Amino acid sequence: MTIELNARSTATDTVLEVDNLSVSFPTEDGLVKAVRGVSYTLRRGETLGIVGESGSGKSVTSLALMGLLPGSAKITGSARFRGEELLGKNDREMSKIRGKHLAMIFQDPLTSLNPVYPIGKQIAEAVLVHHDVSKRAAWERAVDLLKVVGIPFPEQRVNNYPHEMSGGMRQRVVIAIAMANNPEVMIADEPTTALDVTVQAQVLEALEAARTEIGAALVLITHDLGVIAGHADRVCVMYAGKLVESGTVDDIFYRPRMPYALGLLGSLPRVDEGRDARLTPIVGTPPSLLNLPPGCPFRPRCPLAQDICDEVEPDLVTVDAGGQHTAACHFSTQLVDTQATDVFAVTSVDVDTEEVAVADTDLVADTDLVADTDLIADTRPVADTRLAADTSEDAS
Ligand SMILES: Nc1ncnc2c1ncn2[C@@H]1O[C@H](COP(=O)(O)OP(=O)(O)OP(=O)(O)O)[C@@H](O)[C@H]1O
Ligand code: SF4
Ligand SMILES: [Mg+2]
Repeated sequence: MTIELNARSTATDTVLEVDNLSVSFPTEDGLVKAVRGVSYTLRRGETLGIVGESGSGKSVTSLALMGLLPGSAKITGSARFRGEELLGKNDREMSKIRGKHLAMIFQDPLTSLNPVYPIGKQIAEAVLVHHDVSKRAAWERAVDLLKVVGIPFPEQRVNNYPHEMSGGMRQRVVIAIAMANNPEVMIADEPTTALDVTVQAQVLEALEAARTEIGAALVLITHDLGVIAGHADRVCVMYAGKLVESGTVDDIFYRPRMPYALGLLGSLPRVDEGRDARLTPIVGTPPSLLNLPPGCPFRPRCPLAQDICDEVEPDLVTVDAGGQHTAACHFSTQLVDTQATDVFAVTSVDVDTEEVAVADTDLVADTDLVADTDLIADTRPVADTRLAADTSEDAS
């Protein structure tokens, strides 16, 4: 059975345009500013990775544009799908778009699947909601979709209940449901986080197969830079509810211009750097989004922070000639060709006493950006990077 593809935009390559999106939640303790002025565009067929630590606003950003946040959420800004504003639509209007044009894949497949129905019925229903086809045709489509996402023996497996499948298979079923109506946009929110590494690879492969099959654009939300490196075309780095850097995968991995992005890369073990490569963990935790103080939110963790960082939050500005690479740091122009070890390097650590010696980095010497290394030593205990490197090697 074939189901016609949704009419694809030809006038523009942009399928999704998020502009200055902000979301806050009134709570008993005050206003939680979960998303603060996020803007990005998603082009037809591309994969945009959104990466950031827990609580940085990755999920809330996507839930807002899918119309899936609780009514208490205060949402401002704009999110346009093929030019049509999504924010402000009521649930009935959004349910015509969700699944058909925009589909979401969540972290835990068990919350997306109904335990009392066979998976074939659940996939077929996703088709029937938006298409006037026979039940038999929808069932055949279910079998086809299971094939695309790599489920072996799909003709038999289509009769299985969710509990008869492994976690990785269930996630592939969820991907099959998401692609059932050939949506233009799929948003996968930490689709592999709950799975072990081998199964993660299978699920990412299934996601890629699904994306290629229907030509959808994909927003891939993850805290795993390895996933981004292997699967995304462009990357948005989020921190404390904002985008702090965005660009192509090469921009972010080879030319990062914001200390947080630099630190994320430095804390990632790389096979091309051999056994002696040192990791540079970012010490500390992200700020609370309740009553966020003024200044740069990364300031308490940033070895390059200066007085201005206490007072003024940096804007996200273009840092390349092409206008594709943006970063939010007062000193991004000075972070050209900078390595994580130039900024986050440590020479010796005593974890028990939280005593840290900061390396005499080239960057410090060259630009005098870091004035008070004693302060850094006092306030930023750093884990034993050699230990971290060793452990990660053992684990692999
Ligand atoms: N319904 C809600 N009410 C109040 N605060 C909320 C609500 N939903 C989310 N938040 C807060 O918004 C912030 C952003 O949450 P979000 O779930 O988007 O983070 P995330 O980047 O997806 O993190 P994770 O990687 O853990 O999934 C967090 O501080 C979270 O506590
Ligand atoms: S603005 Fe200041 S605190 Fe923020 S990342 Fe840049 S140097 Fe660090
Ligand atoms: Mg999340």
